[in-house]
Order: sequence, then structure tokens, then C-alpha cells
Amino acid sequence: MRGAVSGPRIRFRSGVRVSFRDFMPVPLFDTKTPLEPLHAELRAAIDSVLTSGAFVLGPEVEAFEREFAAYLGAGHAVGVANGTEAITIALKALGVGPGDEVIVPSFTFYASAEAIPPTGATPVFCDVDPDTFCVTPDTVRAVMTPRTKAIIAVHLFGNVAPVKEIEALGVPVLEDAAQAAGSRSEQGRPGALGTIATFSFFPSKNLGAMGDGGAVTTNDAELAAKVQMLRFHGSHDKVTFDLVGHNSRLDEMQAALLRVQLPLLDDWSEGRRAAAGYYAEAGLGELVTLPNAAPGAEPAWHLYVILHDRVDDVAAALGQARIGSKVYYRVPAHQQPAMREWGDSAELPVTAKLAQTHLAIPLSPVLSREQAAEVVGAIRSTLS
Ligand SMILES: Cc1ncc(COP(=O)(O)O)c(C=O)c1O
Repeated sequence: MRGAVSGPRIRFRSGVRVSFRDFMPVPLFDTKTPLEPLHAELRAAIDSVLTSGAFVLGPEVEAFEREFAAYLGAGHAVGVANGTEAITIALKALGVGPGDEVIVPSFTFYASAEAIPPTGATPVFCDVDPDTFCVTPDTVRAVMTPRTKAIIAVHLFGNVAPVKEIEALGVPVLEDAAQAAGSRSEQGRPGALGTIATFSFFPSKNLGAMGDGGAVTTNDAELAAKVQMLRFHGSHDKVTFDLVGHNSRLDEMQAALLRVQLPLLDDWSEGRRAAAGYYAEAGLGELVTLPNAAPGAEPAWHLYVILHDRVDDVAAALGQARIGSKVYYRVPAHQQPAMREWGDSAELPVTAKLAQTHLAIPLSPVLSREQAAEVVGAIRSTLS
């Protein structure tokens, strides 16, 4: 509780007092500042939904689906409740079910794997490329079997996995693009590269709602129609229930708020890329291993993840300097207790190494050159 914190205090014009300790000079994320110029438009969007009286799956959701699909260059987008259910629903739309195997990287947010068992299929964990943090045709091929029904290619941290090369292995690819809204590659945007793709609009994502939200995108009209049914109890007309589905709908308020933000996504993505450039300019690459864009990719870095053998020391020093940082995947998905049944036998040396050596440092569309220099200064004084 703020009131309970002792030490120096700052008093705002509003009269609110906060402890100096509540401030991070360089936060890991900044989900607040980029939205400030949009406050009036966001309030107008909320008002408009309020007065419309339509709150779930209405005109705002339909308009957002059209606009998001057009932005990605995908044929269809279907709004759902979150990025985890988006994966389960997309897998079911692909016909994944009991007896099937789905390949998924272990170096990812746990939800990429957690979304598989609800289909009845078995997660099979694969390794990733040490330079891009993404799956490759080789890491996938190493664990493929005749039962492989789908491959989840996670565009981790906003980097772009080689989806078309993996799809050439002959199995449909589901792009988990939760972290990659705003990224680009020579072959198109994540979300329009494979058979089907999923997004999360959790508030800290590159395109974030003010609550939960997600989407499934595809160029295949039949798959899109199936996803539309699966998100609404397996029904196309709300009267006949043909499939055992989900209640996984995007609401009007979130869609309206996302519509205000979508036109800014490219600017914000440029801001993220510029921030990565400030780190390089300040000499961060002399101290730690920097993330590499995959060949032909322009990532909208969702997280800026560095590698070093002493990341725990770096994290402690950044904490002292009140600079945000986080080890995200120290226990990779295949070693999580809930995945024991499927993950125990997996041998994933690159994942094991990355789990010990990665650290996300501050990144946002508004991270300044000065802030980047401050972060690099703190890292330099720890490691030198
Ligand atoms: C790679 C990845 N996949 C899936 C998800 C799940 O999205 P949500 O939190 O919207 O369910 C996330 C979100 O954190 C993610 O980062």
C-alpha cells in the first residue's frame, strides 16, 4: 500500500502523494505514456459503446475484425476472449483432437503449450534457434512423427519465425503471434504467413486492450467460419449447436478501444525499433549478446531480451538502480509441473541455455535515448 511506505514523498497537483520509491526511472514496460495523446478518442469510444447498448460481438467487433485483417494482409480476423483460447480454438478449427500431436517450442510463454491439451491432443516440445529464439524447420523436424497434426510457431519477443519454410514440412502451421503485432517480414506480417494465426490483446502487448482480448486470423474462409462457430458455443445461428465449442467472445468495449489504437501500431512499432537502436548506439552489444532480427524480419520488439551468463547479477544491479528487468522463462514450458506428462523426456539444449541466460530489459515505444543510455550504464558498471 502506498500510504504505508516511508521515505521521501512527492505531492501531485491533484493532492495525491506517492513515495519516491514508487517510481521506476526506467520501467520494464510503459503501457501508459503512449496512450496519453489518445485519451479523448478513447473516452469517446467508451461513450459511444455505452450509449449503443450493444456490449458483446456487435458492430465494433465486426469493424475491428475487418480493420485488423486488412492491417495484417489476412483474409479474415475473428475476435475472441484472449490469446490462450485463440490457440485452442484455432487448433480445433484445424481438426486437432485426441490422438494427435502438436509441436510447440518450450521457450515461450507457458500458454502456447497450455492451449494444446484442451483439444485432446498431446504437446510435443521442440527447441529453438539460439539467435532468433524461434522454431526452425530443423528444430521442428527433430520431433515430427506421423501423428504430428499441427505446428505452433511462436514469433517470440516480436521476432518472426520462418513459417513458410516450416509449412513446407507438410503440416499446417499455427502462428502464435501474441507478441508480434506490428512486426514485419519480407513474406508479410505475422498473422498472415501460415494456415492460421492467433493474437493476444493483453494490455502489455504491442496492441493492447484494457482488459483481455484475442483474435484468430486466417486466409481460409472455411477455417474462419469454423472459428466463428467455436467462439460461440459451436453454433452458427445461436439456435443450433453443431460443435462442442467455447464461450470466447471479444466485447464491444475492447474492440472499440483497439480500433482507436490500431492506426498507431506502426508508429509504436517504429518507436520499439528505435529504442532497440538506442541500446546498440549506447554500446550494449559490447557487454551482452543482443537479440537478432530473423533474416528478412523487422521485429516490433515486444520484449528486448539480452543474453549473458551473469544475468542474475545484472538484474540485481538494475533493480538497485530502479530499472525494470525480468527473467521471463527461467523454467521453460516443458519443465512446468502441469506439463510433466508430456515434457519429461524432452531434451532441449538451446532452451536450457536460454532459460539460464536471458533477461528482458526496458522497452516501449517511448523509451528515450537517455533512458537507454542509463540502462546500458548500469549494465556496464555491473559487468566491468
Ligand atoms: C507467446 C504467447 N502466447 C500466448 C499468450 C496468451 O495470451 P493471453 O494472455 O491473452 O491468453 C501470450 C500472452 O501472454 C503469449 O505471450
